[in-house]
Amino acid sequence: MRVSGAVRVPGDKSISHRALLLAAMGDGPSRVRGILDSADVRATAGALRAMGVDVPELAPDMVVVGRGARGLAAPSRDLDCANSGTTTRLTAGLVAAHPFAARFVGDASLSRRPMGRVARPLEAMGARVAYDGEAGRLPMTVHGGDLRDLEWTSETSSAQVKSAILLAGVAAGVEVTVREPHRSRDHTERMLAARGVDVWVHDRAVHVPTGARVAPLDAAVPGDPSSAAFFAALGALAGAGELVLPEVCLNPTRTGFFFVLARMGARLTVDDERREGGEDVGTVLVAAGTPLRGTVVEPHEVPAMIDELPLLACLAACAEGETRVTGASELRVKESDRIAAVVANLRALDVDADELPDGFVVRGRGPRAFRGAVATHADHRLAMGFGILGALPGSDVRVDDPACVDVSFPGFWDALRTATAA
Ligand code: S3P
Repeated sequence: MRVSGAVRVPGDKSISHRALLLAAMGDGPSRVRGILDSADVRATAGALRAMGVDVPELAPDMVVVGRGARGLAAPSRDLDCANSGTTTRLTAGLVAAHPFAARFVGDASLSRRPMGRVARPLEAMGARVAYDGEAGRLPMTVHGGDLRDLEWTSETSSAQVKSAILLAGVAAGVEVTVREPHRSRDHTERMLAARGVDVWVHDRAVHVPTGARVAPLDAAVPGDPSSAAFFAALGALAGAGELVLPEVCLNPTRTGFFFVLARMGARLTVDDERREGGEDVGTVLVAAGTPLRGTVVEPHEVPAMIDELPLLACLAACAEGETRVTGASELRVKESDRIAAVVANLRALDVDADELPDGFVVRGRGPRAFRGAVATHADHRLAMGFGILGALPGSDVRVDDPACVDVSFPGFWDALRTATAA
């Protein structure tokens, strides 16, 4: 198989959510360019609209007029977060600082995911969180109000928890410090700093002071490295050619997959690297035709590639030797139990793979074709990871719910066809 051309991946999902939330908190109009128009980001836009923010239809160049850091209105309806954990947890932080209650609901997958991790620090700041049914699960009602300062040590390295606390602190005008076991993605810190907030980051701790205000900003959203990862993998697995991935966010808290892919033997280079709007951005080039070998992913490497681990498992099936990932128990509480799902699907394709409590082992046999049916559990990253295996010569992989990619990468299947058309 030959790959060729440039794949311009859509805007980064994490940054897109934050761009809307921070624009809503700004004192005046913010311009956002390159936002990801996907189901997840539309959920954040819808939640903000329900609280009085005039968010236009998502568009490549849009303006959101902020209502100030604590300017949301009591919601006119439930906040429907659909499939999006980021919408739920970050918006919960913002709501906690407001003198009203908001009820968060989501789809079946989101309703299984843990919310106690975000409720606990918000409660420690003075908010109250109530659940309709099982504790720690949606539907959940956040009763906001006057918050107090917080110093919080997070048990998990979760950017969503960290960001919820930072947004609550900034909106309430109180001082917060968050520590985490390993550094998670730091877009919120970077974006707050770009908007004039005195954010201090030291090692694995972040601090924002009392009385911070959020300035409106003209911001560009770079391409999503988690979406680019699928095409980096495709390029690395191809027999010939090269793929060019322009304008990808290269924030080091996000580039773990590229690093590990290079370590497995892929020829990856970065061109035109620069700093834009507080983020590192560049063009990733992937040359085909080098054999891949298995690797060991250590727990400290996990946060910077957490969303790419299902893809890594797929890729590992085409490498020579064993790939082992540990310290990734978070995968069990993502859009699906990604450890169980990826291992079951690999086995369905006759790959030697095992679950670990906090990761997986895949014993690859080098380049080959894959045939069989896989279950996505409506999880976009599983659909795309197995989509890459299905694109390999001689493969026939039936993905049960291809449309679920719309959560983060509408247009994925077209981009895949174009990249492999040569
Ligand atoms: C995200 C943080 C990560 C990641 C998710 C997006 C974010 O989740 O898996 O896709 O935008 O903050 P956790 O905070 O649960 O690790």
